[in-house]
Amino acid sequence: MSSTSQIENRIILPKWGILGAGAMGWLWTYYLQRAKIDTLLLQRQNTSYRECIIQKDNLFENCRTSATKSDNPSLPTLEALIIATKAYSVRSALLPLQEALISKQIPIILLQNGLGVFEEVRKLFSEQPILILSTSNGAYWHEYEFLKLTGTGPSYLGTLDNSVPRSLINILFKRLRATGLPVLLTDNILKQLWEKLLVNCSINSLSTLWLCRNGDLLDNPNSKQIWKRIVHEGVQMMRLELCQEVEPLEILTLIDQVAYKTSANYSSMCEDRRRNRPNEVDYIQGYLVRKAHQHHLSVPTLETLAELLKFPENSLLKQTPN
Ligand code: PAF
Repeated sequence: MSSTSQIENRIILPKWGILGAGAMGWLWTYYLQRAKIDTLLLQRQNTSYRECIIQKDNLFENCRTSATKSDNPSLPTLEALIIATKAYSVRSALLPLQEALISKQIPIILLQNGLGVFEEVRKLFSEQPILILSTSNGAYWHEYEFLKLTGTGPSYLGTLDNSVPRSLINILFKRLRATGLPVLLTDNILKQLWEKLLVNCSINSLSTLWLCRNGDLLDNPNSKQIWKRIVHEGVQMMRLELCQEVEPLEILTLIDQVAYKTSANYSSMCEDRRRNRPNEVDYIQGYLVRKAHQHHLSVPTLETLAELLKFPENSLLKQTPN
């Protein structure tokens, strides 16, 4: 039996859920645990715990977390649930959890690339606190054996509506900061999302079509030309959507910086191609094209990329490079 002092001294750890056991899901599981935050991984397998080897710099660490099946509707109370699935899976992954999340009012934190996911999730949860964590932390699976953590750019936390009380934002922000990652709070998350959208559109499109690492794009004069066209078309929309001036050169510099910092990575879309999985074209290039049409803007480069990246079913790769 525990004595009173033991009970008083016991530190109650907050528990965070992570939905999706891909590279991003494991990256945040690892960093939250380092901040002494208890984690529950919601994943496809029916196991009560999961392990993963993480490589950071030249060190290898074993990361172990409790786990449950992602469609398990009887969730424990969680301080927050990070959604780390691909953009196109978010809705179907959340549906089985909808009732539990609503009844416990568990805050949802979205990590996805691209735009449009927030609106889809808001339709499922009319009053839930929904936050966005726009992150440029890189991670990739090394030959399916371990997860290699790469570039640590800033991650921005914010909301797209008034669903989250400031006191709650502050608590969640404090926890994320405790990971040691450069997490910043922003009142203009939409700007971060648009910047990331153009970075993703530029790097992911070309690396996927050319099946190359992000760094290979830096030495290629053709990529620079195409990035200029993407940014020229994208910035017109950004200005209208954000109602503020946007400098194309700033976005081009950002694209270079991200490609440089993640030189060794295959972009997420390129990984999808290499593994013959569906990709996020509808949330990146496709989203941009739909927005441009709403604004009656002409975006020939983005339209062509969106069409090229919708791979036909008979285009499966037989062999993938290492
Ligand atoms: O999608 C990705 O791979 C990443 O978000 C990154 C590294 C920024 C490339 O666009």
